[in-house]
Amino acid sequence: MGKAIEAKDLNIYYSAFRAVEGVNMTIRPKTVTALIGPSGCGKSTYLRAINRMHEVIPGARVEGKLELDGKDLYGPGIDPVGVRRQIGMVFQRPNPFPTMSIYDNVIAGQRLNSKKLRKDATDDLVEKSLRGANLWNEVKDRLEKPGSGLSGGQQQRLCIARAIAVQPDVLLMDEPCSALDPISTLAIEDLINELKMDFTIVIVTHNMQQAARVSDYTGFFNIEGTGKPGKLVEMDETKTIFSQPKEKATEDYVSGRFG
Ligand SMILES: Nc1ncnc2c1ncn2[C@@H]1O[C@H](COP(=O)(O)OP(=O)(O)OP(=O)(O)O)[C@@H](O)[C@H]1O
Ligand SMILES: [Mg+2]
Repeated sequence: MGKAIEAKDLNIYYSAFRAVEGVNMTIRPKTVTALIGPSGCGKSTYLRAINRMHEVIPGARVEGKLELDGKDLYGPGIDPVGVRRQIGMVFQRPNPFPTMSIYDNVIAGQRLNSKKLRKDATDDLVEKSLRGANLWNEVKDRLEKPGSGLSGGQQQRLCIARAIAVQPDVLLMDEPCSALDPISTLAIEDLINELKMDFTIVIVTHNMQQAARVSDYTGFFNIEGTGKPGKLVEMDETKTIFSQPKEKATEDYVSGRFG
């Protein structure tokens, strides 16, 4: 668990529109990388390209290379479903299956992967995943209740439990706290800090304080204008990006002097 990701000369398209251009990025194993940048610069697009969710959109494709520990994620014979299992994703809005119980939500990925587990093994996996997501104590007495009965912050932690239950190598998080209150946000940030012991984490955030608090490395994406592709301007250790970035555009963005 916890593998490296490497993007090489990556271009990402929606049909003829090049949304992201020329990304070269190394994401180190068992670190947290924050992706920041203005709306429309391609952060979500890039994230979805990493686990091959981009290509489910008709006309969407990538050029260049994406590797997981040196293995070409877009190589011939690579099953995109397997890639999505190895590289899990948590979205902006918590999206538990609403009528499914908390218990079944946690193992939903496992069921989809049609792995048959014995009841006691499943019980163990549910407990381990919920503990991993810092949710166990809050839900252990109501595992059979629907996932929709939880608070927003709890639902997001349930989605994280679901994502880690399939034991991925990488967790991609696209603004996972933007629908949450400050307390739930801090709970997720603490959790990210713990999860990086086992997983490589990439988080998109518009919250500069969050990027500074939670990440080891930060990549700044920017866009020159409407219709232009987003580009990775600069990536470095988070403290460098926030204190002495090399590019003026990065400094303007992190200091709020943008636009
Ligand atoms: N399904 C799609 N079809 C066509 N174009 C798309 C699609 N999704 C995104 N785009 C375009 O790709 C570009 C990058 O969008 P993306 O959602 O990746 O930006 P973002 O950096 O995540 O923005 P935000 O911070 O607002 O979430 C934008 O110009 C957007 O309009
Ligand atoms: Mg986005």
